[in-house]
Amino acid sequence: TETQPPVTNLSVSIENLCTVKWTWNPPEGASPNCSLWYFSHFGNKQDKKIAPETHRSKEVALNERICLQVGSQCSTNESDNPSILVEKCTSPPEGDPESAVTELQCVSHNLSYMKCTWLPGRNTSPDTNYTLSYWHSSLGKIHQCENISREGQHITCSFTLTKVNDSSSDPQSVQVMVKDNAGKIRPSFHIVPLTSRVQPDPPHIKRLFFQHGDLYVLGKNPQNFISTCLSYQVEVNNSQTETHYILSVEEPTCDSSEFEENLEGTICFRVPRVLRDTLNTVRMRVKTNKLCYEDDKLWSNWSPAMSIGKKTNPTLYITMLLIIPIIVAGAIIVLLLYLKRLKIIIFPPIPDPGKIFKEMFGDQNDDTLHWKKYDIYEKQIKEETDSVVLIENLKRTSQ
Ligand SMILES: *[C@@H]1O[C@H](CO)[C@@H](O)[C@H](O)[C@H]1NC(C)=O
Ligand SMILES: *[C@@H]1O[C@H](CO)[C@@H](O)[C@H](O)[C@H]1NC(C)=O
Ligand SMILES: *[C@@H]1O[C@H](CO)[C@@H](O)[C@H](O)[C@H]1NC(C)=O
Ligand SMILES: *[C@@H]1O[C@H](CO)[C@@H](O)[C@H](O)[C@H]1NC(C)=O
Ligand SMILES: *[C@@H]1O[C@H](CO)[C@@H](O)[C@H](O)[C@H]1NC(C)=O
Ligand SMILES: *[C@@H]1O[C@H](CO)[C@@H](O)[C@H](O)[C@H]1NC(C)=O
Repeated sequence: TETQPPVTNLSVSIENLCTVKWTWNPPEGASPNCSLWYFSHFGNKQDKKIAPETHRSKEVALNERICLQVGSQCSTNESDNPSILVEKCTSPPEGDPESAVTELQCVSHNLSYMKCTWLPGRNTSPDTNYTLSYWHSSLGKIHQCENISREGQHITCSFTLTKVNDSSSDPQSVQVMVKDNAGKIRPSFHIVPLTSRVQPDPPHIKRLFFQHGDLYVLGKNPQNFISTCLSYQVEVNNSQTETHYILSVEEPTCDSSEFEENLEGTICFRVPRVLRDTLNTVRMRVKTNKLCYEDDKLWSNWSPAMSIGKKTNPTLYITMLLIIPIIVAGAIIVLLLYLKRLKIIIFPPIPDPGKIFKEMFGDQNDDTLHWKKYDIYEKQIKEETDSVVLIENLKRTSQ
């Protein structure tokens, strides 16, 4: 295995926004018995590759220059002696590095649109007019993002992703470049894989019900997402105990045989230990998981809340609070009165001799009245008997 001559005409070009393509020609004067292979790697020996093609490309955020080294050899063996390596680099972006925007980030919402945000660079005038360009493999050409707006310190722009087809086997990504339309700031590049930084729409709660002492929550996944790619949180707030309870679920499943319901397209959660007769407010949210996505950090917003159970009426509560002491007080009074009467029955009052004496000989007036009454009664009886005697006497004389 002899050393081959180096490759010729190595050149570099940039396609789209961040697709860097190196091309070269076969070496001149290579051995006719040699079947040529090309060994290449990026600066500091990254991504070594041995291939028969005379080109290589890579998607890179071109915020710094990137170099490729290429050599030729006669076998696929890496330890084989390659030719002298030839190097070609991209040119770094032009402009003052301090003028470039910072913290350029993009989040894919609901897999239907992407929102990018950034902060102005340090050496920029406040009235800089930014432009955002983006490209992905389903677009024929580079697009400009419309409607750049400010959100506090940040500048943002959103664009739709509806045309991205994920049928291709390659992991797809979106290339983004931010600069200004006067060409005064250094351009910033960003590459966003479609499987990272995905924030789903919130899910929806369809129904809540109690069964066998457990709370069941039936819901619906956000559009564009399937259950195996999501993690869930169900929040239950109890208004009476003022408790706040969060259930984290990786796989939403209930034993559907427990209730007759078609769970097709429905996610189901069983929440144990929920107080049934009080008001419970339930919300849920989702995030992507590592099974399908690179990120598992971005929670969706909370779903609209749904409530189950009776609300304890606060006015009723206050009335009860007022009425109960009154009832208790009344009961105590009645009890005391009853006890007094009971005491009289059990312990009759000891006769007071003085009082009895007074009753017998006391108060003259009272007594005379008594006697007078008696007189009248006596007189009446006497008169009646007299008249009877008179009538009898008359009868006897007539006979
Ligand atoms: C290198 O490129 C030049 C012009 O593009 C061409 O004339 C020459 O033949 C190329 N060399 C090889 C080895 O292909
Ligand atoms: C190429 O291989 C053939 C047979 O294997 C041999 O006869 C010939 O000398 C070789 N040529 C060179 C340049 O090595
Ligand atoms: C590669 O080359 C080394 C020595 O040059 C040899 O020991 C090794 O077996 C070779 N490997 C293959 C896969 O041919
Ligand atoms: C989520 O994506 C679907 C389909 O791509 C779309 O119909 C829906 O409007 C999107 N939701 C939001 C809130 O943008
Ligand atoms: C940005 O645009 C506005 C209006 O289009 C213009 O008045 C302003 O001068 C521009 N700023 C720069 C730095 O070019
Ligand atoms: C539930 O309680 C927590 C903690 O008190 C609170 O942050 C959250 O907003 C409550 N949820 C609802 C739907 O009120």
